Parts: sequence; structure tokens; C-alpha cells
Amino acid sequence: MSTKWWHEAAVYQVYPRSFFDGNGDALGDLVGVHSKLHYLKSLGINAIWLSPFYPSPQHDSGYDVADPRGVDPMYGTLSDAHALIEKAHELDIKVMVDVVPNHVSIEHPWFAAALASRPGSVERRRFHFVDSGDEPPNNWVSMFGGPAWTRIREVDGSLGQWYLHVFDSSQPDLNWTNPEVAADWITTLRFWLDAGVDGFRVDVAHGLAKDMTYSDLPDPVGLTQALRFDLDDGSPEAASRRLLIENSGFFDRDELQEIYRTWREVLDSYPGDRMAVGEAWVPAHRAGRYVSPTSLHQIFGFDFLVVAWNAEIMQDTITRAIASVEVVGAFPTWALSNHDSPRVVTRLGGGEKGLARARALALVAHALPGSIYVYQGEELGLPDAPIADSDRQDPVFFRTAGSHKGRDGARVPLPWSGKQAPYGFTDSMNPTWLPQPSDWAELTVSAEQDQPRSTLSLYSHSLQLRAQFSGAVGFIESGDPAVMIYHRDEGIVIAVNTGAGEYLLPEFLRAAEVLLDSESVEASGDKTEVLPPDCARWFRIPT
Ligand code: GLC
Repeated sequence: MSTKWWHEAAVYQVYPRSFFDGNGDALGDLVGVHSKLHYLKSLGINAIWLSPFYPSPQHDSGYDVADPRGVDPMYGTLSDAHALIEKAHELDIKVMVDVVPNHVSIEHPWFAAALASRPGSVERRRFHFVDSGDEPPNNWVSMFGGPAWTRIREVDGSLGQWYLHVFDSSQPDLNWTNPEVAADWITTLRFWLDAGVDGFRVDVAHGLAKDMTYSDLPDPVGLTQALRFDLDDGSPEAASRRLLIENSGFFDRDELQEIYRTWREVLDSYPGDRMAVGEAWVPAHRAGRYVSPTSLHQIFGFDFLVVAWNAEIMQDTITRAIASVEVVGAFPTWALSNHDSPRVVTRLGGGEKGLARARALALVAHALPGSIYVYQGEELGLPDAPIADSDRQDPVFFRTAGSHKGRDGARVPLPWSGKQAPYGFTDSMNPTWLPQPSDWAELTVSAEQDQPRSTLSLYSHSLQLRAQFSGAVGFIESGDPAVMIYHRDEGIVIAVNTGAGEYLLPEFLRAAEVLLDSESVEASGDKTEVLPPDCARWFRIPT
């Protein structure tokens, strides 16, 4: 099988609003990303994925798109996007953009036209509008809480039809059985492919097709819980909840494959290696469907967003993740965090311990075969920022009346330099859209660049070194249930200690060269006999 750039890439997720402000208005923008490409290059990444920068009222931080073929003035212009793509290519960095085909914004012209037209009209048939009297058409629940249906007022002011929104009510779902919808998305894909992008991240890739009979779900709340990170504790209940997703009312339906077959034809018709990675939350045994040669190229592996700090569970997770895509000859992907999850330092306990574990988990993931997706700020070891309820922006917080705090803590503007907010993120005196904590002075890019033991140094070493690794994963019996050891080709061995005590290394590792250590980062040259708790190490066995 030939090797494609995405098979083993390190992809950096840019969340543009919080990455870097290039024009002094306290909001991140495309010019800001452009100006930091050298930073990303020196980090050792191969590609960037840009979260949405399209015109949007920002009810869901840009995942409510009013025009998928434009650039929101708050992020710049189309020529800024073109210049960014060109500069990235000069630096040999691939560019992926996010597409959001499951839904649009209520400010998309199609939705305005639908509201202004009559039930049954061509304009309404682009969405899921249903007559249902005073009750919603079925028991479906929004992923953000509350019913998945909202009732509109018709043009004459009377209460009228209901429309479907699997997410916020500001995100009406598109009707993918309508050929006009499918054709318009091909136009959008071509628009960005013509602009030179190398790939797409497909938002809610498992969601586009719906049960058009709108039948009730057996367990609608369970289905929403199946996708909640905080409820995935690895228990049998969580595993069986996952199965509720399979070919359900609005997720993972078999009809999706025909949609992606047409997308694949378009991508394959372009010169160069263009690809699409699906944000598809599906049970492991369904993952292969999304990465066949007639579907998407890649699917996100989300297991490391939730994996417990436990060597046995980790090993099992890795084995299953590789097997789930291997069946169709695809490479796995790994992510420790993204804009929807808690930051990994916080998830693994916060403080010194959380940081040590996050760094160790990064070494476990970065040495695996497949692609690694790094969410901006992860390379700095940022924790979630504390956010006061009065500052929260996430619709999840509002739709659950505050019972779920939402994702804002992981979306705070990056600290670049300086001792206090805004830490070089912007020149503006205006407050940033989410407040930065007062104790991030040691976590800025410039502070960490000068620190050989910083998380930034660890990531730049690991992301460069991993490119040299090859071959399949093989596990080595460690003799300690808290220690996982695996190897790749060329004598590369990775060990992690998730236990509370030191692990006495086996003889062959005591004699090995230490390539990288999650605590001390650079190899000291000293051969040590033990692996401390919450630590991972890369070794090279002399041949
Ligand atoms: C995806 C995005 C998330 C967004 C949701 C609705 O899961 O990653 O941020 O809220 O889709 O578009």
C-alpha cells in the first residue's frame, strides 16, 4: 500500500478565535494563524486543521455556519484564507478545513427562505420541517439538552411547523434526502478544493442521514449520553450505551455511505492527495465503514479522550482502536484533546500529577502508528481555565440550565508571551472573548521555548522523532499490571508507568538508549534502573 501524507501525520488543530490575534481586535483570525506558521513548523507538525472561520452568528462558536463558502469578517477575508493556504504549502504544511454538513445556521439564507415560505415548499424541504400540532414530532433529544425540535411561527403569525435540530435550535439540520442539499455540498467541497486545501474535517460525519419516518427512539437520553466524555467511565453500561448510536434515528445510518461515496469521487478527482477525516462517533465495529476506499479516508479515534490512567485499559484501548480500522487497511488516529473535550491535563487530575500524566500519555500516543491530532495549547500543557458562569458562552451551558458547564474552559485564547493576560495573544486593550487565568505566565510559548523540560520542548522532540518510527505495535509483558510496554520497528520501545510506585526496568531496557522521557524530556545519557510513577519513556534497543 502506498503511503499518503495523512497516514502518519501530526495534525495541529487551530481553533481560530483563540489562536492568535493578527489585527488587534482581541479576537484570533486567519492573519494571526498565518503569522504563526513558523512556530507550528518548528513544532514538527505536518498539517493544520482549521476549525470553522465561516460567516456565523457564533451561537455555537462558528459550528453554526451561515455561508460555508465565505470567511467571517471577524476572521478576515477570502484572500486571507488563500494567502494562509499558500504560505502553509510553502512551508510544506498541509491545510485541512472543517466542513459542517449536518446543519447550518439560522442565519443561512436557506433557513430565512424556509421561514418565509409555506409548509411543504421547496424551501422547507431543504430542512426537516414537520406538522405535529402542539407536541414535537417525536421524542428525539438535542445533543445539547432539551428537545431536538423547535416550533416556528408561520408568516401569518400563527404557531406552525416544527424543525429538527440535533444540536442547538440555532443549528437546523439539513435534509440530506434532498438532492439540492447534496449538490450544494459538492459545490462547497469543490470551492475549498479549488482554493488548494488538502483535506476536510467532517463535522458530525455520523449525523447527516435521518430516519425519515421520524420514529421515536427507544432511549433518546441514553443516545445523547453515549457521546458524553464525562459519562464514559469504561464501564459495561457506557459500552452498551455506545451501541445505541448504531444505525439509529439520526446517527450512523447506513444511508450515509452513499453520501460519502460521492464525496470520495470528488476528492479523488483532484490532483494531489486530498482527504477527509470524519468526526464520526460510532461503535468500534462500525468504524471501518467510514474509512473504506469508497467512503472517507480517516475517522477520528476518540479513545484517548477518555482512556483511564490504567495500563491494562490503555493496552486494550490501543489494541481495539488499531483493529477497528485495520480490517479495511486504514491507519488509526489518536487525539488527547480537542475543542469539545476537557483539556487532558485537567481530565487526568489537574495540577502537577495531571500534567505529568498528560505528558506521559502524549508519549504513549505519539509513538503509535497512524496520525496524531494535537489541539492548540495541548503542546503547552495548558489545563482547562476556570470560567465564571457569567462568562460562559457554550450553548451546552444554557440548554442544560447550567447543569453541564460546557466546553469553554478548553477554548480560552492561547498564551504566547508576557507575565499577564492577554499574554501576547492580542495588542488590544479589550478583554478577550473568554478570560485567561492569571497564573499562565509560566505556560506561555515564549516561557516554554526557553525551558528544556517544558511540555513544549517535549512535544517538539516527540513530534519530530515519531516520524522515524515504523512498523506495527507489539506488546511486551511488563510483569506489572500498572506498566504497559510496547515496541515498534528499529528497536523502538515505549514504556509507561500508571502505578503509584517505581517500576524496576527489565534488563534489556536498563541497557537501552533513552530517546525521550516525559519528565526530564531530553535523554540524559544516564542509564536508570527504574521508571517513576506517572512517567513514560522512549528507548532504542542497541542492535
Ligand atoms: C461537532 C463540533 C462541536 C459542535 C457540534 C455541532 O461535534 O466538534 O464543537 O458543537 O459538532 O456542530
